[in-house]
Amino acid sequence: MIRGIFLSIVASLAAIVSVSAYSGPTKLIPEPVEFSVSEGVYTLKPDGSDVKVYLNAASFAAKVAELPEFAKEEAYEVVVGKKGVKIYAATEEGAFRGRQTVEMLRLLDPTVECCTIFDYPRFQHRGIMLDESRSFKGKEFVKKQIDALALLKMNVMHLHLTDAAGWRLQIDAYPNLTDYVAWRVGETYHEWEGLGYPFTNADDPKAYGGFYTKDDIREIVAYAAERHIDIIPEIEMPGHSMEVNRAYPEIACVGPDGKPRPFSWDLCVGNDGTFEFLETVLEEVIELFPYKYIHIGGDEAAKIDWEVCVNCQKRMQEEGMTHKNQLQGYLVRHIEAFLRERGKTVIGWDEIVETGLPEQAVVMSWRGTPGGIKASAEGHDVIMSPNSYVYLDYYQDLIRKEPKAVGHMQSLRHVYKYDPLEGIAPEFHHHILGLQGNLWCELIPYAAHAEYMLYPRAFAIAEIGWTPQEKREFFHFRERCLTLITIFRAMGYNTFDLFNESLRAQTGRLRFDDPTFKLL
Ligand code: ACM
Ligand code: ZN
Repeated sequence: MIRGIFLSIVASLAAIVSVSAYSGPTKLIPEPVEFSVSEGVYTLKPDGSDVKVYLNAASFAAKVAELPEFAKEEAYEVVVGKKGVKIYAATEEGAFRGRQTVEMLRLLDPTVECCTIFDYPRFQHRGIMLDESRSFKGKEFVKKQIDALALLKMNVMHLHLTDAAGWRLQIDAYPNLTDYVAWRVGETYHEWEGLGYPFTNADDPKAYGGFYTKDDIREIVAYAAERHIDIIPEIEMPGHSMEVNRAYPEIACVGPDGKPRPFSWDLCVGNDGTFEFLETVLEEVIELFPYKYIHIGGDEAAKIDWEVCVNCQKRMQEEGMTHKNQLQGYLVRHIEAFLRERGKTVIGWDEIVETGLPEQAVVMSWRGTPGGIKASAEGHDVIMSPNSYVYLDYYQDLIRKEPKAVGHMQSLRHVYKYDPLEGIAPEFHHHILGLQGNLWCELIPYAAHAEYMLYPRAFAIAEIGWTPQEKREFFHFRERCLTLITIFRAMGYNTFDLFNESLRAQTGRLRFDDPTFKLL
């Protein structure tokens, strides 16, 4: 303990001592893998014309030869000399990451210490999820956050596009999804909930909502591709799907009275029409998103109507199922096979491992880390997004100081503590693709609030995903955050005010009367 405090003080002093008036590698987020500083400075041109890129130089190829494939692709070397800047990389993607390093140096201060930076990521998946269903923020917001992710050398944006509170993607075969259940009465999620979940249509003056047209998605995908960021679309099933039942009650569960239940939370697994619906939707999704992964949700199915639905009960009998949970596995396995035949890999929330899942499916661990620990041991690739560390809708400072949020306090310090390999046996480390911060938006109706919750905690997620674990040190990181926050604010992002963060959030020291005490 005493030794830990002593090391922290030494590290903080080292960070302070290394502060130079100029920009340099010690100020970057994420911190690079290796760097050295030499004598002299160079002032970067704002247009980047003094940056020369060398792809596939033999000396660079030799340097990255031993790295895992994903790291090789993103690796780069930046050399800031007295006359200009050189970037070496094996791929365009690596060159782009190098350019972002140069851009961050320039934003910090155009005059940079002469230096050499050799850099590559620790993990292949470094992402942020935005919940566009609970509050639709639209393409300009998404593109602005893509810019931020690019600067932080993150490479995934996951869009939660469908949920009970609104369907957000044009599907030509099912117009009610965007003519009707993309528009709700109730600007905020809880207002809508309080009113009894009313949907309306776009020209109702009380309508709140929106959706991405196919052209919007093409624009976002192209914008992200230029920045070497993949967009992962999430189409939720079978839970969190009340809006589908409201748009198409003919496929909803049917009660013993023979009437459809459009307010059912879940899709009906007994109705063949559900499968036709999902397959048709996914065919259109595949056309729009040219990536390996499609997220199919899978969390928190209520399974209440399945108990009474005549179609669900019939399905259980026909398939010899003895428990309603098996209906979820039936649906997930069917959709996984459908997508695999089309060259896609399924990602699902960690509930999907509970009911029998082919090894190819990727698991996103959200109920803490146990789901990811179990799934990796069973041979699945895993993305860690535990709500115990990286849920960005949770408080980031003392409850009395902050806008209403969720759960316990996940301060910058708490997020930064996370190591995605925590609890994973060494023989399964290769299954951990990386990590992701999730911004659920039930309590976050506006863009400025969303940015407030994202930054600077997204900085921590970027550094966890990129920088070697043994190099990470919180006090040095926090110093760099204070500088980068100032730059983000100047660029027009509405960040959390890290300068006025409570001492308790900074140090993690808690009083017993704080409601956050138990869980930190
Ligand atoms: C989740 O937070 N329900 C995935
Ligand atoms: Zn049913």
